Amino acid sequence: MTPQPTPSASATSLKRNSRSLRIWHWLNSALVLAQLATILFLFVIVKVKTLAPEFSKALAEKGVTMPPADLRGLTRIVAHRIWDWHIWIGITLACLLAYRVLVSFLQRGGQRTDAKLARLKGRAAQGEAGATKAVWVRYSYRVFYVILAVMVVTGLVLVFEDYFPSIEHTVKEIHEFTMYLVIAFVVAHIVGVFRAEVTTEPGIVSDMIHGGEPVEE
Ligand code: HEM
Ligand code: HEM
Repeated sequence: MTPQPTPSASATSLKRNSRSLRIWHWLNSALVLAQLATILFLFVIVKVKTLAPEFSKALAEKGVTMPPADLRGLTRIVAHRIWDWHIWIGITLACLLAYRVLVSFLQRGGQRTDAKLARLKGRAAQGEAGATKAVWVRYSYRVFYVILAVMVVTGLVLVFEDYFPSIEHTVKEIHEFTMYLVIAFVVAHIVGVFRAEVTTEPGIVSDMIHGGEPVEE
């Protein structure tokens, strides 16, 4: 009697990137970019701090005398509107980070980060070109999760700053400095995945959209 074929990896319904990871990835990407956009608007495009003197000058041309100090209350309205967006996007990012922790429990078999890392280490041990670099890229994701956690924790402290007056200043500095690490990751990551897509790993981006090939349970 011929032995029955055992179900192969390709017979499983598990895709390389789980649906929950993909949902998390694109929502998180959009919100981190939106968060950076709020800062771009505040400090580069609208430059809220320079508005009061400029308004004052424009009013003087119309014969209205109003010193910048008196106009600050008005320009603060603009700043508050943008900060409100920053805070609500930030709170959503905090919820998404909690969801990412849940995702790590929902993923199975080859979808798990540990399994992906083990597969890459195996390929690196066999001397496959580029596999060692891919292992380091995976580690960089772990570093990013730590960076994101710092951003979320410090951001939440700033949301509730009235309860933490003694550490508010330090936390603000950490929050601001960590932003540069976020920017560095985002730039390196986007350049990296586009490069991988057109060189060693064609399909890597679409795998993050549709899930990719089946992996072992
Ligand atoms: C990854 C994304 C983020 C970036 C790039 C970012 C960037 C910044 C920057 C540059 C500042 C100004 C700091 C200063 O004035 O020295 C700031 C302030 C702030 N951020 Fe974020 N942030 C991020 C995430 C978050 C999150 C997750 C939260 C909350 C949950 C948050 C809440 C706040 C609050 C409350 C302030 C102070 C606003 C104020 O001064 O009125 N941020 N952020
Ligand atoms: C157009 C923009 C983006 C594209 C095309 C993209 C694409 C990808 C792809 C293809 C992967 C899977 C890489 C692999 O399997 O080794 C990935 C993973 C990841 N991306 Fe992005 N990404 C983008 C933006 C972002 C942004 C803005 C962030 C964060 C701020 C981000 C954070 C991550 C993280 C943390 C992972 C690892 C997920 C995990 O396996 O735990 N991505 N990205």
